[in-house]
Amino acid sequence: MTRPKVVVTRRWPQEIEERLATTFDVTLNETDRPYGKGELIAALQEADAVLPTVSDRLGAELFANGVRAKILGNYGVGYNHIDVVAAKAAGIVVTNTPAVLTDATADLAMTLLLMCARRASEGERELRSGKWTGWRPTHLCGTQVTGKTIGIIGMGRIGQAMARRCHHGFGMEVAFYDSQPVSVPGVPARQLPMVEDVLAAADFVSLHCPGGGENVHLINERRLGCMKQSAFLINTARGDIVEENALIDALERGIIAGAGLDVFEAEPVIPPALTGREDVVLLPHLGSATSETRIAMGMRVISNLTAFFEGRTPPDAVN
Ligand code: DGY
Repeated sequence: MTRPKVVVTRRWPQEIEERLATTFDVTLNETDRPYGKGELIAALQEADAVLPTVSDRLGAELFANGVRAKILGNYGVGYNHIDVVAAKAAGIVVTNTPAVLTDATADLAMTLLLMCARRASEGERELRSGKWTGWRPTHLCGTQVTGKTIGIIGMGRIGQAMARRCHHGFGMEVAFYDSQPVSVPGVPARQLPMVEDVLAAADFVSLHCPGGGENVHLINERRLGCMKQSAFLINTARGDIVEENALIDALERGIIAGAGLDVFEAEPVIPPALTGREDVVLLPHLGSATSETRIAMGMRVISNLTAFFEGRTPPDAVN
């Protein structure tokens, strides 16, 4: 039997690439540079399956002229970079990798929260540049985390993992917004009716809703204005949830105290107005970046592909 032809758009952990090659006829992107539109179209027209990542933009125009691919096995949980409706219309099943990156992403959100509160990036920059003159009582005093209020927007798996860390690890009060009624096992979390209510109540706001659609610019000038002046915004979800210019303006005008960002509107392009600021912590989209998680994500893609080519419904189909 001929093996399904699979294009992988970026390099994956070696053991997963090897595992994939035991079952499929695999083409790897040896350069590991993001494919351009032409390369993605070619992949869709030549392969039975394309395995993209968040660095690939798969808009409706890519499916417009007919495709051979029948499945897009996205390496990641978020899929707002794929027009899943257009993919479906073109006869393509889209799958993602939920659950396996929950803890890694919540860990990174907590990292950003702590780094913002304790001015960790500022301190490290000062030390590495040789400007540290030694201990003094007024040096780089940050904000206490223990006992403060975390506001979570989007109480799915990652939001709940963040709530557990904040409550059990740091004795924080948890307030949250979700469009559906949610209870968080083991955490006394207060679900509030409006995003604005959570923003107003929180000392730290952490975003855990999907990107795209109605969540584009959910955090805009007006909503930033609802936050406490002493509060920090943490984003490990998707860059398009935050209107970046409005955030820069809010930081500039002291509307909020700072931000910890792992995702950006036009990543990997970061506005100099952000990189030049001391009151932001900026990471290069590292939410799921642990070896264990990246392997688990690959395994999840493989089980989706295997199910699909065996004629079963892939466990993580999203369209
Ligand atoms: C995810 O899984 O959504 C990560 O952000 C990488 O795409």
